[in-house]
Amino acid sequence: MFNCRSAIIGLALLIFGGTGAAQSVAALASLGRDATPAEVAAWDIDVRPDFKGLPTGSGSVASGQLIWEDKCASCHGFFGESGEKFSPVIGGVQPWDMETGHVANLTRPDYPWRTTFMKVATISTVWDFINRAMPWTAPKTLKTHEVYAVLAYMLHLAGIVPEDFTLDEKTIRDVQARLPNRHGMTTDHALWPGNEFGGTKTPDTHNVACMKNCAPMPVVMPNPGIRNE
Ligand code: HEC
Repeated sequence: MFNCRSAIIGLALLIFGGTGAAQSVAALASLGRDATPAEVAAWDIDVRPDFKGLPTGSGSVASGQLIWEDKCASCHGFFGESGEKFSPVIGGVQPWDMETGHVANLTRPDYPWRTTFMKVATISTVWDFINRAMPWTAPKTLKTHEVYAVLAYMLHLAGIVPEDFTLDEKTIRDVQARLPNRHGMTTDHALWPGNEFGGTKTPDTHNVACMKNCAPMPVVMPNPGIRNE
């Protein structure tokens, strides 16, 4: 558990170190206090891939559309297609990706575009991110049922759930089972999350710079927004 006072004392030891440490710690002992359970709860909001931490609640596609158009579309586009403020959220996913769990467009050399629903492998991550960070200008202002609703609408825009769908703490598991890139997470790079998921032991940092007969320089293409082909 996070403990403010231990953190401050630990910091004091780091800063003052050496012989003066004992006096400094004594001087600081009266400072600060333990975080209250309410304060800890306000920070402890992460939702994990196994849905640990997910609050109960629900929201329909229809109610999510109102929230999306009111609080999200100005930056992300009415259909999640905008690449103006950030990469598009919606687009590039095909119906058969939901069967395979791999987004086919990610492997097409002639398809450089990327969207949130093409890449994300765990729907909990999207729930968590909206809950903690969106709307960008007013994070943590959405109520739990609003996070469910707006995510339901985004899933509908992405073609993952039907128009009459209601997202809640149970149906989100069905969404995970259909998530287009659910099998797309790789640990081959060994950087994260590590060996517990079967990743290789050595990070792929052994490449040497090519000095002759190199491949042509990659060209970065402008992001045109949604590409549903
Ligand atoms: C003022 C502009 C703005 C508004 C309004 C806004 N967003 Fe965002 N959104 C951003 C930006 C910028 C990012 C990238 C932020 C970052 O990476 O830190 C982002 C990122 C996201 C992502 C993650 C995308 C990814 O692939 O990593 C999601 C999901 C998202 N927004 C959903 C929403 C929802 C839902 C709403 C409405 C409740 C909303 N946003 C409102 C600007 C906005």
